[in-house]
Amino acid sequence: MATNTETAFDVVVVGGGPGGYVCAIRAAQLGMKVACVEKRGALGGTCLNVGCIPSKVLLQSSHHYHAAKEEFAAHGVKVSGVELDLAAMMGRKDKVVAEFTKGIEFLFKKNKVTYVKGAAVLTGPNALKVGDVEYTAKHIVVATGSVSAPLPGVEVDEKTVVSSTGALALDKVPGEMVVIGAGVIGLELGSVWARLGAKVTVVEFLDKVLPPFDDEVSKTAQRIFEKQGIAFKLAHKVTGVKPGKSGATVSVEPVKGGDAVEIKADVVLVAIGRRPYTEGLGLEAAGVVVDPKGFVPVDAHNRTNVPSVYAIGDVVGGLMLAHKAEEEGVAVAETLAGQAGHVNHAVIPSVVYTNPEIASVGKTEQQLKAEGVAYNAGKFPFLANSRAKASGETLGFVKILADKRTDKVLGAHLVGPGAGELVAEVALAMEFGASAEDIARTCHAHPALAEAVKEAAMDVSKRAIHI
Ligand code: FAD
Ligand code: NAI
Repeated sequence: MATNTETAFDVVVVGGGPGGYVCAIRAAQLGMKVACVEKRGALGGTCLNVGCIPSKVLLQSSHHYHAAKEEFAAHGVKVSGVELDLAAMMGRKDKVVAEFTKGIEFLFKKNKVTYVKGAAVLTGPNALKVGDVEYTAKHIVVATGSVSAPLPGVEVDEKTVVSSTGALALDKVPGEMVVIGAGVIGLELGSVWARLGAKVTVVEFLDKVLPPFDDEVSKTAQRIFEKQGIAFKLAHKVTGVKPGKSGATVSVEPVKGGDAVEIKADVVLVAIGRRPYTEGLGLEAAGVVVDPKGFVPVDAHNRTNVPSVYAIGDVVGGLMLAHKAEEEGVAVAETLAGQAGHVNHAVIPSVVYTNPEIASVGKTEQQLKAEGVAYNAGKFPFLANSRAKASGETLGFVKILADKRTDKVLGAHLVGPGAGELVAEVALAMEFGASAEDIARTCHAHPALAEAVKEAAMDVSKRAIHI
C-alpha cells in the first residue's frame, strides 16, 4: 500500500467492495497510479463484510449442524448430543471475514494501490475530498454499491426487525421468524435460521419464490423448502410490522384481496431488495446524473454522462452480484488503459446457496417464449446421477435450453447438489458460443455431478442415456 500523502492519481476508485477493489488492483497492474477510498473501515464492501461471505459461512455451518442432527443417521453415522454453539459459529464467521479483509489490504500493498480510509465527496469531475484532504484524478470510478431497500412504515432496529446485516449477527435462534421477501437473501438467511431451529414463514408479494428464476426451478425449490419446514405466504403483502415488548406482530394480507392475518415473530427479516447507495457522494458537484431510482446510468463501457467518471457494480443496477461488479471493475480498468474492456452481461451466472443450491445462467424458458425464440429443452434429474445417489443428495435437476435451429446453448437452470459450481461449465460453454452437442460430446468424469450437465445437454436432442 502506498502512503496517504499523495493526492494526485490517474484513477481514484470510490468504494472498496468487489467492484471497487478489483478495479483498483487491475488498474494498478496496468501501470496506473491508483487510490481506493473506503469509508466502512474495512475493505471488501457489502459482499465481504455483511453479504456473500458471512452468509456463506453461516450457510455452511448451519448445514453441518442440521446434517449432524438429521442426515448422518441415514449414512450409518450415529451421533448424539449434537449441540449448537451459536457464539462459536458467529465467531468463526467474523474470523473468516477479518482474514479476507486483511487479505485485500495485502493485495493493495502488493499492487501499490493507495488505500484511503474515509468517505469520499466528489467536488468536480476530476476532484474529490476525503475529510479535509483534496484529491485529483484523471478518472474517478464510482463503486459505492447498495444498501437494503426499506419497507415503508417498517423501522429496522437490527434487533427485532432486521435487515440482512442484523440477520447475520443474531445472538440467539429466534423461535419464530418472519421473512419479508422470497428472494435470494430471504431464502438463504431463512434457511440458516430454519436449520438452526427457527420456525420460518416467508411472505412474498409475487406468486412465486425467486421471481427472476425459471418457473420450474422456482416451483421445485419451493417444494423442497416446504419439506424443510419453511412456510410460504405467496401473493401476500405485509401491511404493517408492530414491535411489541418482545418480538413483533406482522400484518399480512393477500395481494388480490381477502382476509388479513397477523403473524407473531421473535425476529422479522426485511429482504425486499437493495437500492443504490450514493448518499453524500456529491455526484451533482461532478455533474453525474442518476435515474429516478437512484442508479447511476452508464453506457456499455460503464461511462457515466461525465467523461472522466465511470461507475460499476450495484450502484449502476442490473444484476446486483459480486462477480458482476468484479467483471465491470476489470473492464473499466482495461478500458482506461486503452484495452478492449468488456463484460458479457448475457452470461452472468446467479447462484442461491441454499440446500440444494439453485443456479441459473442465460435465458429462462419464460424469457425465450416472451421473445419468440424457438428452443429445445434438455433435462436430467439428480436422482439418476450416480454421484448424487452415492451422496444421498438426489433432489433437483439440470435443465439446458438450446436454440432449436442452431443448438446454441441459450440458458441453464439448475436445482441440486453443487449447482453453484456446475453452472460455471455452462457459462463457459456459452462464452465460447457452444452448442448443447458440444457439452454432450465432452467427456465428463464418472461418477460426477457434472455428468448431470452432460446428460441434460444430451437430452436436448433426446439422447440422454440414463433416463
Ligand atoms: P459494495 O460491495 O456495496 O461496496 C461498496 C462500498 O463502497 C461499501 O463498502 C461502502 O462502504 C463504500 N462506500 C459507499 N459510499 C462511499 C463513499 N462516499 N466513500 C467511500 N466509500 C464509500 N452477491 C453474490 O454475487 N454472491 C453472493 O453470495 C451474495 N450474497 C449476498 C448476501 C447478502 C446478505 C447481501 C446483502 C448481498 C449479497 N450479494 C451476493 C450481493 C453483493 O454483496 C453485491 O452485489 C456486491 O457487494 C456489490 O459490490 P459493489 O462493489 O458494487 O458494492
Ligand atoms: P431480491 O430482489 O432477490 O428479492 C426480494 C423479494 O422481495 C422479491 O421476490 C420481491 O418480489 C419481494 N418483495 C418486494 N417487496 C415486497 C413486499 N413489500 N412484500 C413482500 N415481498 C416483497 O432481493 P434480496 O433478497 O433482498 O437480495 C438483494 C440483492 O442481493 C439481490 O439482488 C441479490 O442479487 C443479492 N444477493 C445475492 C446473493 C447470491 O448471489 N447468492 C445472496 C443474497 C443477496
